[in-house]
Amino acid sequence: MTNDNIPNPYGWKRSMRAGLSFRPVAEDDMPFLARVYASTGRETLAATALNETQKAAILLLQFRAQHAHFQQHYPQADMLVVMGGGHDIGRLYLARWPNRHGIIDLTLLPEFRRHGAGEVLLRDLTEEAAAAAKDVTILIDKFNPAMRLLRRLGFATEEDKGAHDLLRWSA
Ligand SMILES: CC(C)(COP(=O)(O)OP(=O)(O)OC[C@H]1O[C@@H](n2cnc3c(N)ncnc32)[C@H](O)[C@@H]1OP(=O)(O)O)[C@@H](O)C(=O)NCCC(=O)NCCS
Repeated sequence: MTNDNIPNPYGWKRSMRAGLSFRPVAEDDMPFLARVYASTGRETLAATALNETQKAAILLLQFRAQHAHFQQHYPQADMLVVMGGGHDIGRLYLARWPNRHGIIDLTLLPEFRRHGAGEVLLRDLTEEAAAAAKDVTILIDKFNPAMRLLRRLGFATEEDKGAHDLLRWSA
């Protein structure tokens, strides 16, 4: 299986049925990915006295730093744009380590959240990992509402890391 075999390179059946497809991130995707990043990063700047221009500048710098960090630390990870209904709707970064799958990031643009895409994707990921006798881990902010979804899908806290929890799913 190669990553270039769009639309369903990973055999993710639920995603395919839900009309989701994927493509590896390319240089042209940077403005879109910056928008995806800003859609969550903006919340952390909400309480500051910065104006919108300043916030946008900071978010862009943070996005670039994060992107460089991911590329440096997870060179083998799949960095994917998630597409659905003819739109680019989010990003999925997934590292397939020898003993587990690590979700580095899963973020959808706000207008595409709460329609079931996240659950579909996470179920495909856990199923893929289980077929390879692996677990799935994700680091998530303790107060992230996505925690409810992850718990429902069977992710359990493995380690309390202060502001974040490391969650693990096992078959
Ligand atoms: C986390 C995320 C990928 C889930 O995808 P999604 O398509 O929105 O999720 P689904 O529609 O499949 O499932 C919705 C469930 O997610 C949880 N959830 C996610 N975001 C939520 C929000 N803002 N408010 C309330 N519940 C939320 C809830 O459990 C909800 O189901 P429930 O209302 O029945 O409890 C998406 O919401 C997102 O991009 N959030 C911002 C980025 C993020 O927090 N990523 C964390 C990594 S998982």
